[in-house]
Amino acid sequence: MASYAPMLTLPRFRPSPLLTWRRSATSVVALSLAFALAQPSRSGAAPASQANATQPGGASAAVARGEYLANRVAMCVQCHSMRDDKGVILDSKKFRGGVIPFKSPWPDSEWAYQAPSLAGLAGFTDAQIVALLTEGRIAGRQAPRPPMPPFRMSADDAAAIAAYLKGL
Ligand code: HEC
Repeated sequence: MASYAPMLTLPRFRPSPLLTWRRSATSVVALSLAFALAQPSRSGAAPASQANATQPGGASAAVARGEYLANRVAMCVQCHSMRDDKGVILDSKKFRGGVIPFKSPWPDSEWAYQAPSLAGLAGFTDAQIVALLTEGRIAGRQAPRPPMPPFRMSADDAAAIAAYLKGL
């Protein structure tokens, strides 16, 4: 049955390069923890703007896409917002800065317990935010510590998020 041999050979397992990088692994685990802590949003349904997010339409389409990415895909909202004493994100405090309520699972690893306010992106240029979200850091600044994920977005997605956060 030599002719079946190739079909029975499973491809070799290769770990994702992302997971082999310790800082990334830290972030992935932390992100999972963050999601596990997250309560369902009070607002429930997806925003109407989401339907138009990928259609051409200039600045407003970029803002709508940024809203979708920041709230529903990249989940910036989960760490950069304040919560009530049950852990539910406060609508009025979304993106106004948050607390990371758990320790790093790895002793002596770098870790940040506060996520800064992103509303209005005070103190950042659009180019800096695009660099942060496409390359994981802003040139000339220390890279943010975990659990901030080292994002590697497309420039379009990064610019859409910057446009959305700037308008908050
Ligand atoms: C898992 C939690 C988490 C998520 C998700 C997250 N962040 Fe952060 N972010 C942090 C923490 C914590 C810091 C503070 C890092 C530090 O002080 O070293 C931070 C820092 C930042 C900073 C400041 C960087 C600097 O150089 O000063 C910006 C801007 C930022 N985050 C934007 C975002 C955006 C935009 C998203 C979504 C695309 C996002 N973050 C998602 C936790 C998170």
